Amino acid sequence: MLNRELLLALAKEYDTPLFVYDGDMVVARYRDLFGFIPYPGLKICCAMKANYNPGLLALLRDAGAGLDTVSPGEVIMALKLGFPKERIIYTANNMTDEEFEQVLATGVVMNIGSLSRLRKIAKTHPGISLCLRFNPDVCDGDNAKTMTGGDLTKFGILLESVEEVKSLVREGNLKVIGLHEHTGSGLQRAESVYQSMENLMAIATPENFPDLQFLDFGGGFKVPYKPGEARIDYVAMGAEITRRFEAFTQRYGRKLDMLFEPGKYIFAEAGYLLTEVNTLKRNRSRLIAGCDSGFPQLIRPVLYDAYHEVWNLSNPDGKPQVYDVCGNICETGDRFAEQRELPEIREYDILAIRNAGAYCYSMGGVYNLRAMPAEVVVSGGKVVYVRRRLSSEELCDQILKEGRSL
Ligand code: LLP
Repeated sequence: MLNRELLLALAKEYDTPLFVYDGDMVVARYRDLFGFIPYPGLKICCAMKANYNPGLLALLRDAGAGLDTVSPGEVIMALKLGFPKERIIYTANNMTDEEFEQVLATGVVMNIGSLSRLRKIAKTHPGISLCLRFNPDVCDGDNAKTMTGGDLTKFGILLESVEEVKSLVREGNLKVIGLHEHTGSGLQRAESVYQSMENLMAIATPENFPDLQFLDFGGGFKVPYKPGEARIDYVAMGAEITRRFEAFTQRYGRKLDMLFEPGKYIFAEAGYLLTEVNTLKRNRSRLIAGCDSGFPQLIRPVLYDAYHEVWNLSNPDGKPQVYDVCGNICETGDRFAEQRELPEIREYDILAIRNAGAYCYSMGGVYNLRAMPAEVVVSGGKVVYVRRRLSSEELCDQILKEGRSL
């Protein structure tokens, strides 16, 4: 965890709003997984959609990590950063023919999640190797919007379509080298992970898919967001995952690689959004602290009712009071925290919004024409990577350059 003094010094040096990432924690989280899941063929492909900061990704690349990518942009970024193509898996949703061709040409493993795309591939690309994404038929996640398995989502091929899959594979002489599932983000129950694994392993027989090299069980490992929230016993979970996978490889007849694609687990707790309070207001019953960031820069509270802990870095011992911590965007929902007890907030205090490492910057935008914050990565106690913030002038010039009146 980064300390208060360092965060305050960074806010002063790089100005707010500012994302700060603890690069050492990100790498430690990646490495921890190999301790939790002691299966020799374990491979971790970090979900790049959670955080595509080039400084953080470079640390993960050097630690040996792979990447889970979901768009041609992510694949191009991963390759430009020097991730070998063998360490990249591509799992797009509803990809276009052009996207398919573009990514196929790079040589990364294509993970196909619909019969509709598989039918096209069998006709147009006979003989290629690919991975198939199935819907594990298990519903779990920290929010209805982040549950991926089950009937109500757009993801994966249904398990009961396996015969149709096999005939398309035969027709196109395709080589299925991997099977994939992703149950959801922020999985609440260890049992869901095991059940999804079992559901995928049940169809991963040598009769159905004789050429398998790996099974990929997606991401979803949960981390605590609220103070006092229990941390999952990943040692116990990892042992159970290993036990079940080893039993599966016995049945399959040879060892396969086991992949996971964590995003939140790797990045969430390593990130802080630092924001300065510029306005204090009492609106009858509500005490409002208004700051210099807003929901386009950290959208999780608005989109998922997500809880993010807030620290008052510059007045940690102030007398506690209850605040709405609001942003600088012209919308009522623009709140990082509602009715939250915090040490007294004064004008110009610096707040840190915790767990801002996953799905915060990466889901950001420039609504109200405010540029995204700068980002810094800290490792070994010093800043090792800086991505600066565009000035308002630069942001506008960029937009003006993109279009022309006809
Ligand atoms: N693999 C696949 C195929 C995925 O779709 C995802 C996340 C992951 C791996 C990584 O899941 P994680 O380990 O991060 O839970 N924006 C939401 C989360 C959306 C996750 C989308 N897919 C949030 O902020 O809670």
